[in-house]
Amino acid sequence: MSGEKKLQLGVLVSGRGSNLQAIIDASQAAKIDALVAIVISDVADARALELARRHGIDATFVDPRLHTTSEEFDRTVIDLLRKREVDLVCLAGFMRLLSPHFIREYRHNIMNIHPALLPAFPGLHAQRQALRYGVKVSGCTVHFVDEGVDTGPIIMQAVVPVLDDDTDESLSARILTYEHQIYPQAIQLFAEGRLEIRDRRVVCHGTDTPQQYEKYTWRAINPS
Ligand code: GRF
Repeated sequence: MSGEKKLQLGVLVSGRGSNLQAIIDASQAAKIDALVAIVISDVADARALELARRHGIDATFVDPRLHTTSEEFDRTVIDLLRKREVDLVCLAGFMRLLSPHFIREYRHNIMNIHPALLPAFPGLHAQRQALRYGVKVSGCTVHFVDEGVDTGPIIMQAVVPVLDDDTDESLSARILTYEHQIYPQAIQLFAEGRLEIRDRRVVCHGTDTPQQYEKYTWRAINPS
């Protein structure tokens, strides 16, 4: 880790917060050069807010009902992020679409984690979509956020097998394990300034990336 100022993260959440927990754990274990500066939720009783508070992190509920438009809501969120000097916004189970204004303000500085191998199965219930479609592998994707739904440039993906007796729950759980690994890794690549966006492609500078991909691909073939 460098002695430089750590990347300041703003994490947007709506629910359980297991990805938030993985990011906090990675930060506390100094596996990433980043600190969670603020957690913001559109759901008052989101478990993720409680979790953040337990770690002494500023955790704020922004009430959508007090805002007439999505942009107005986003402006309140952006004010909070700016006050905390957030460098990178991480969506972690945040159930609202960001307004074009938000995207413009933080373009290429917003990441999301999605529980499928994009561009397959964007939107809600990705694991169920994958199961119903009958794919033999699925996984998760960390991507930059653009104006579309789960359409932004892809940073990292992890692959898992879909087994014959899988349910929504078993497949989701298998994918989640990998979400918790690749989200902090993608944040670290960003913190190290190794990600370059060329049109739709995210190029990762440095030498250890191919092995990472090999590791995940191998696990897809041999899940033991
Ligand atoms: C995860 O499956 C993530 O991929 C999706 O929403 C879920 C959030 O889970 N975007 P958690 O709140 O991080 O546990």
